[in-house]
Order: sequence, then structure tokens, then C-alpha cells
Amino acid sequence: MKLKDKVAVVTGAGRNIGEAIAHRLSKEGAKIAVVDLEADRAERVAGEIKAAGGEAAAFSADVSDEDAVKKLVADTVGALGRIDILVNNVAISDNKTIFDITKADWDKVMAVTLGSPFLMGKYCAEQMVTQGDGGNIINVASTSGWRGRPRALAYTAAKGGVINLTRSMAVQLAPHNIRVNSISPNKIGSPVGQADFDPTRPVKNLAGHPGEPDDMAEAVLFLVGEESKFIWGENLFVDGGCMAMEVS
Ligand SMILES: NC(=O)c1ccc[n+]([C@@H]2O[C@H](COP(=O)([O-])OP(=O)(O)OC[C@H]3O[C@@H](n4cnc5c(N)ncnc54)[C@H](O)[C@@H]3O)[C@@H](O)[C@H]2O)c1
Repeated sequence: MKLKDKVAVVTGAGRNIGEAIAHRLSKEGAKIAVVDLEADRAERVAGEIKAAGGEAAAFSADVSDEDAVKKLVADTVGALGRIDILVNNVAISDNKTIFDITKADWDKVMAVTLGSPFLMGKYCAEQMVTQGDGGNIINVASTSGWRGRPRALAYTAAKGGVINLTRSMAVQLAPHNIRVNSISPNKIGSPVGQADFDPTRPVKNLAGHPGEPDDMAEAVLFLVGEESKFIWGENLFVDGGCMAMEVS
């Protein structure tokens, strides 16, 4: 088991990509803080991890709220003892144009999609520095952070921010032996903000089909493990090759 005795915090772990990451890290021996705004989702996933023989604690928290984040970090350390790995997976999208989006929509998407990796990164990194033996942070970005889109504005700006937030976090946390990387997925499981997978959703990539949440979970496992120990401040695309294609 690659992550025995490690504690991993996974945000937005109540379904889809975050859920798969939580299960995969648990299978490698990590104790999981399953974090989601929706308590029933967090409790279901934590319950399934425990039923499979793993260790997990469910937390309902809004990871865009600073006081909630401070409490979440303290409660995780209280329940699981420490924090070695943080996966910043939460995001929401506006799915709007510059003409439709309101200032309130913009602020909300920025607070959750860009603000939560900052807040969770800040307070989890403080805990890792206190522990004194390094750590690992993954920020889930998106191909939407690399290109313009016709029907999303704040989300694309926030994800572009996540990509460079990752680099600055990597630079500032490297002296503490905390490695920070991002992953940019495209078309994995159900769309952001939706629970249902639509197999007819159009996909343009080299694989010829959408990805599965487990594809993301394997990438996270690689980036938090010893196999990637020389990869710092980098972005990994898990996108079926869509960023490699000419868009026509
Ligand atoms: N699904 C895709 O095809 C895709 C593509 C590109 C990028 N991504 C990225 O992958 C990540 C996961 O996407 P997903 O499709 O699994 O999302 P999802 O919407 O299915 O799940 C997100 C979870 O986060 C929770 N959440 C939302 N706001 C929260 C908050 N403020 N505090 C705590 N929990 C909150 C939700 O309750 C939900 O359970 C996101 O960062 C997303 O941008 C996904």
C-alpha cells in the first residue's frame, strides 16, 4: 500500500471525480477526510470507504468560507491525526456568457472555484508545516482554464487562476517539502454540477470517448506518490488528448 498511515483531505468528494479519488487513495491505505457541502453525500462515501475496510471521516463544509475551512482543518486533525495530502477538487461553473452573468454569479464562482484551493491550501499547508515532514497538494484545474469557451466565463477565468495559483503555491511551499501540482481534466463522468452521466454527450478527443472518474483518481495517485517525486508545480492533462488536437 503506497499511502499507508497518510491522511488525505479530498474536497467535493461526495460524488463523481472526488468520490473516485477518495476511494482510490483509501485503497492505497490513506485515511480520508471526505469533504462535501452536502452532508448526505459525504456520509455515504465515508460509509462506503469504511464498509470496504478503510478509514474515513465525513465532513460537511463550505470550502469557500474561511471560518469553515479553519474548522474543517482542525476537525480533520482531531479525527484523523494529521494532514499529508490535500486534493482541491471542488468547483462550480457559471455556464453563462459575458452578457448573462451577474456580478453575484461571478463572485460565487470565483469564491468556490479559485478561492477554495487558496483557502484549503493555506490552512492545510500551515498544518503540514507544523507537522514538519512535507506533504502533497493537488489542485484540480480544467482544460477550460487553458482556452476560451462560448458558454462559461467566470469558471474559465477561475480555472486559469487555479493553474497559476498552483505554480506560486509550488514555489512558496517547496522549502517545506510540500509538492504542489495541478491536473486538468476534460469530459470525465458527468458534467460539473450534474450527477447524471450522459453517454451521448459529444466528445472531441483522441480517445473517442469520455473519461471515467477513475482516470482522474489514477492521475492523483501518481502525483501524490513517490513515483512522481521529481514533478513540482506541473500540470497533467487527463483529457483523452483533446488539448493535443487542432480545433476545427
Ligand atoms: N466532470 C468533468 O467533465 C470535468 C471537466 C473538467 C474539470 N472538472 C473539474 O473536476 C472537479 C470535479 O468535477 P465534478 O464533475 O466531479 O463535479 P461535481 O459537480 O459532480 O461534484 C462536485 C462536488 O463538490 C461539492 N461542492 C460544491 N461546492 C462546494 C463547496 N463550496 N464546498 C464543499 N463542497 C462543494 C458538490 O456538493 C459536489 O458533490 C472540478 O474541479 C471540476 O471543475 C471536471
